[in-house]
Amino acid sequence: MVGVSGASGTPYAAAVLCALLDAGDPVDLIVSRAARLTILDETGHPFRDAHWAGDLARWLGRDLGGADVRHWSAGDLAAGPSSGSYPSRGLVVVPASTAACAGIAIGLSKDLLQRAAEVALKERRPVVVVPRETPVTRSHLEHLITLHDAGAVVLPASPGFYGAGASASAEQLVDFVAGKVLDALGVEHTLFRRWQGTLRAR
Ligand SMILES: Cc1cc2nc3c(=O)[nH]c(=O)nc-3n(C[C@H](O)[C@H](O)[C@H](O)COP(=O)(O)O)c2cc1C
Repeated sequence: MVGVSGASGTPYAAAVLCALLDAGDPVDLIVSRAARLTILDETGHPFRDAHWAGDLARWLGRDLGGADVRHWSAGDLAAGPSSGSYPSRGLVVVPASTAACAGIAIGLSKDLLQRAAEVALKERRPVVVVPRETPVTRSHLEHLITLHDAGAVVLPASPGFYGAGASASAEQLVDFVAGKVLDALGVEHTLFRRWQGTLRAR
C-alpha cells in the first residue's frame, strides 16, 4: 500500500510507485488532500478521485494497462484499508508530511492514509515513513521516534551520492531514496548502484 501525503517530494512517490509496478507488485494507493496540491505544484498534473486512473498515468508517465492498482479516496474512512481484515503486505508513506507523521504517531486517523498506517502498525505489518522537511523541530523528531518505536522504518528523503557520484542527476537522487524504500519493503530493484566496497578515486 502506498500513501502519498502533502510534503514536497512527489517524485519520490512516483519512483516508488513505478518500481512497485515494474516488480509486478499489487498497489493500493491513497493520496491525501494536501498531496493533490503538491502533485499539481510539482508535476503540473491534477490528481482527482473521479479521474484517478488517467491522472495517475499522466503523473507517472506510463500506461497502467494491466497494472494491479487500486485507488482509495483519502476521505473514505469506510474503505477497505481502514480495516485490519483488508489484505495488505504493509504501507509506505512517501513523501510523509510532518502532519502525517504526527497524525500517525498519535493515532489521529484524520483520513484514510493515517488510518491505514495505524492499521498496519497495529497489525505489525511493515510500515515505511519517508519524512520530507528541513529543518525539524523537537516535536517532529519526537513523532519520528514514536513511529520508530511503534515498528515503522523511518527513512528520511536523504539521498546518498555514493551510487552516482557528485554529478548525480536529480533522477538518480530520487531513485536512491526510492530504492532504499524498496529495500525496506523487501522488493527487488535496480534503482541504484550498490556500494562496491571501493572508493571511486582509487
Ligand atoms: C506546495 C506545498 C509543499 C509543502 N511541502 C511540505 C513539506 O515538504 N513537508 C511538510 O511536512 N509539509 C509540507 N507542506 C504542508 C502540508 O501539505 C500540510 O501540513 C498538510 O496539512 C499535510 O497534510 P497531509 O499529511 O494530510 O497530506 C506543503 C504544502 C504545500 C501546499
